[in-house]
Amino acid sequence: MATQRKHIIIDTDPGVDDALALILALRSDELQVEAITTVNGNVCLSQCTENALRILEILGLPEPPPVAQGADRPLCREPLSSASIHGRDGLGEISILKDRSGKKKYPSPRLHPTAKYAPELICDLAARHPRGLTIVTLGPLTNIALALTLEPALPRYVKEIVTMGGAYSAPGNVTPAAEFNFFCDPEAAQQVIASGIPITLVGLDVTRIARLSRHSLLNATKKRTRLNQFLQNATAHAMSFYCEREGYHGCSVHDALAMMVAIDSSFVGTKRVHVEVETEGKLTAGMSVADLRPYSRGKAGKPNAAVALYVDPSRFEHFLLDRITDR
Ligand code: RIB
Ligand code: CA
Repeated sequence: MATQRKHIIIDTDPGVDDALALILALRSDELQVEAITTVNGNVCLSQCTENALRILEILGLPEPPPVAQGADRPLCREPLSSASIHGRDGLGEISILKDRSGKKKYPSPRLHPTAKYAPELICDLAARHPRGLTIVTLGPLTNIALALTLEPALPRYVKEIVTMGGAYSAPGNVTPAAEFNFFCDPEAAQQVIASGIPITLVGLDVTRIARLSRHSLLNATKKRTRLNQFLQNATAHAMSFYCEREGYHGCSVHDALAMMVAIDSSFVGTKRVHVEVETEGKLTAGMSVADLRPYSRGKAGKPNAAVALYVDPSRFEHFLLDRITDR
């Protein structure tokens, strides 16, 4: 008997690794993507939205899911960006690439976002799929926090959240203490984790191990198709960043692992622990504080999240390339 597809919303700030996660989701029969919602993060909101639409066009889907724009800034902090890794356009500077005839290789998308505000769409879809909707978050958690404020009963409707975010027994990537998505909007991250919606946190502990090597990507994208070209073009800038910074010939693809967990939770090993996000610290703002102590801590330390601590990097890379490339 065919297993039922998992209804999901993808909240995202594309972003190169977001792009791979979106492609993975949209090429996986296990998932039914009900909507894509965009949030300020790696680049500004309008660019994130344009990138999401561009990815849908490159995939050439007969019925692409709606794309709804959300927050253009964190709940109460200044917006940041990570153009150094993702390029000024958020997709590895592909917007400036030209083909042999001098035409733009990746012109602006013809698709348009819906007029619906992302937090409202999240609430509408949750009501339409009571206890049957998974939200996969790949950027700062601002839209989800706004949806919770808009509809305080949301935890009664949403089945689960799978989040790329945090660092639990590993250092941060934006500061020694904090990972980018939680550092951008610590207040939103804390509000979502404290909401009581079952949440799986896929942080740097596992995403810094499960990476995409340049050799594997080139090997898997030899066939000259538009998608394979996009995968090579969009990851080149990030791969140069990691090569210069760490001497690694490849790149981290944090969001792709979170999406893989939404497909099949067995891709990571998790531990249920109590997590809170620091919102006051000068040095520790955005830090995800997980109580990993091996003894019970009473009510205050009641586990509220499943934190991913183990991953098989080879299984990850094989599955990812199998799904997102044209062989
Ligand atoms: O820290 C990694 C996360 O921040 C990823 O989601 C990446 O796309 C950026 O948003
Ligand atoms: Ca992201």
